[in-house]
Amino acid sequence: MLTPQWLDQLRSRVTLSALIGRSTRLQKAGREYKACCPFHNEKSPSFTVNDEKGFYHCFGCGAHGDAIRWMTDHQGLPFMDAVKELAAEAGMDVPAPDPKAARIAEKRDTLHDVMAAAQDWFKASLVGPEGGQARAYLATRGFDAHTLERFGFGYAPEGRQALKEALSRFPEVMLIEAGLRIAVEERDPYDRFRGRLMLPIEDARGRVIAFGGRILAAGKTDAPKYLNSPDTPLFDKGRTLYNLHRAAPAARQSGRMIVVEGYMDVIALAAAGIPDAVAPLGTALTEHQIEMLWRHVETPILCFDGDAAGQRAAMRAISRALPLLRPAHSLRIVRLPEGLDPDDLIKARGPRALEQLLGEAKSLVEVLWEFERDATPLVTPEDKAGLKARLMAHVDTIQHPDIASLYRRALQDRYSEFAFPRREKTWQSRGAAGFQPRQARPGSSRFGPASFSAPSSPESITRLNTRYGQASGSRDALSAAVIAGLIRWPCLLPRHAEALARTPGLDPRFEILVECCGDTAALESDALTTILRDNGLDEPTVAEYAGLRFGFLIQGTEQEQAAAELAQAVDLLVERPVLEAALAQATARFESELSEAAFAEQQRLLKRKLEFDSRLRQMATRHAS
Ligand code: UTP
Ligand code: MN
Repeated sequence: MLTPQWLDQLRSRVTLSALIGRSTRLQKAGREYKACCPFHNEKSPSFTVNDEKGFYHCFGCGAHGDAIRWMTDHQGLPFMDAVKELAAEAGMDVPAPDPKAARIAEKRDTLHDVMAAAQDWFKASLVGPEGGQARAYLATRGFDAHTLERFGFGYAPEGRQALKEALSRFPEVMLIEAGLRIAVEERDPYDRFRGRLMLPIEDARGRVIAFGGRILAAGKTDAPKYLNSPDTPLFDKGRTLYNLHRAAPAARQSGRMIVVEGYMDVIALAAAGIPDAVAPLGTALTEHQIEMLWRHVETPILCFDGDAAGQRAAMRAISRALPLLRPAHSLRIVRLPEGLDPDDLIKARGPRALEQLLGEAKSLVEVLWEFERDATPLVTPEDKAGLKARLMAHVDTIQHPDIASLYRRALQDRYSEFAFPRREKTWQSRGAAGFQPRQARPGSSRFGPASFSAPSSPESITRLNTRYGQASGSRDALSAAVIAGLIRWPCLLPRHAEALARTPGLDPRFEILVECCGDTAALESDALTTILRDNGLDEPTVAEYAGLRFGFLIQGTEQEQAAAELAQAVDLLVERPVLEAALAQATARFESELSEAAFAEQQRLLKRKLEFDSRLRQMATRHAS
């Protein structure tokens, strides 16, 4: 049972400003702290934190609560998880809610005793006569005595019953439950760790909850190099980060947390004076572990090997992180030189070399882009459309709408730059040379074959271009709405010019508008319509975009809102031709091959097209009265 007294004690042990300060920038204001409210969007701070009272309060939106409320409302944790989380940090044990849980808690306590006793015994064995070979191996790794002591190195002697004998004061079932002995049917249980160098794995409070054991000789090929404890009542692999209890205080100092692949890397970093590193336990980073990292720093740095396996591991971590992204929270990624783990790198080039790489860590969006760009050769337009579809599939997994929009735009820009490299004469250089709207508008587009990079096959491009032309070059409601929006909000035009200039097959009016960006005098609603008319084109009539009620078309919309919606609409506009081309391609492939793979691809793209349409519908009807 959680009594009010116990909860009060918990609240009193938590410094609310420190807790909130992890994710929100706080400014001291007298006895309180002020910040821009993390619960609503605002420009001047109306959010206050009072440590004495243990409450936060927003005068803008009314958000109000204590440390527990912060964890449930801001971090999104269920109540009990919030309480457990805070209690763990405050060093308090959560009282068991019922007798059954009380029994489990009791068992956990005694399992902690078992683990502590095992750790003592492993340490003693390392310095005892049986530990000679382990000490010799350790000498080859070059760790100093302080490091060996700090990380609690030990040795599990050979023999199937050695641990049982050493820990005979505990019943066999407990040794099995602690993961130290293995019970198999019809055979006597036996020790899990035999003849291995042992490392304790500790929880956030520094209690031993599991072990990792490394094989000593390289020759024993049939045994795995590392062996970890199984999941037990104390140990949940996916919710544990090796070294977190030491790295967390260090991260508060440095503002940084590094994630490496193995515990030996963590230890090598610590020995080299880099104490803020953690590692998962032989598995890919889990969602839980990502959330754990974010509780300490906003952008943990992940280190991966430079080889293909390392890059795949990086992508696995990225795929897991994308749906979880929230404002200011992300990952940075370091690609190590091929074949070197952090331990090797420090030995070969020194800690400074590693620090330098950490300083050059790439952003998540950059690594995502580079990975997909390099995943397959990009020769044909179809390859390029495939790249675009893969990028957008990643974006679709991002739950946070603003972040998804920003990723869509960032990836689209990189993609466009890459797939449609600009020719000498761009709208910018033309703009710089002086603004001269063209008078005649032949139907030709500047996105001819020459704007694709060299190795593409010109035939397929021309064919594809024709299809673009038919599919979306013609006038349509979305284009008309965006054009009307740009005319209504000329100040928003320059920021979209580049994306629009790179998109093939758009309504010809876009090209005129884009050219107007070269001349600030032209960036007026009236000037834009005049220039369109001079080029033989009219501004869109309401009938052209009937049914699309975007905010940027409606009287009285604030600029911020108009800008956000216009950006989303341009995103859709830029994405559409690629999606349609990919879909046409997949349909053609399915019709000629009738293969299951082609069908699956076509269905996948159809689904994306449907999602696209529904996104458009949602956006365009938001302001329906
Ligand atoms: P590595 O094989 O890269 O080992 O495995 P390492 O960290 O460089 O260790 P040393 O330097 O050879 O001693 C990386 C991580 O993968 C897990 C461990 O967590 C290890 O730290 N692993 C590896 C296993 O769990 N089992 C294995 O058999 C091998
Ligand atoms: Mn290594």
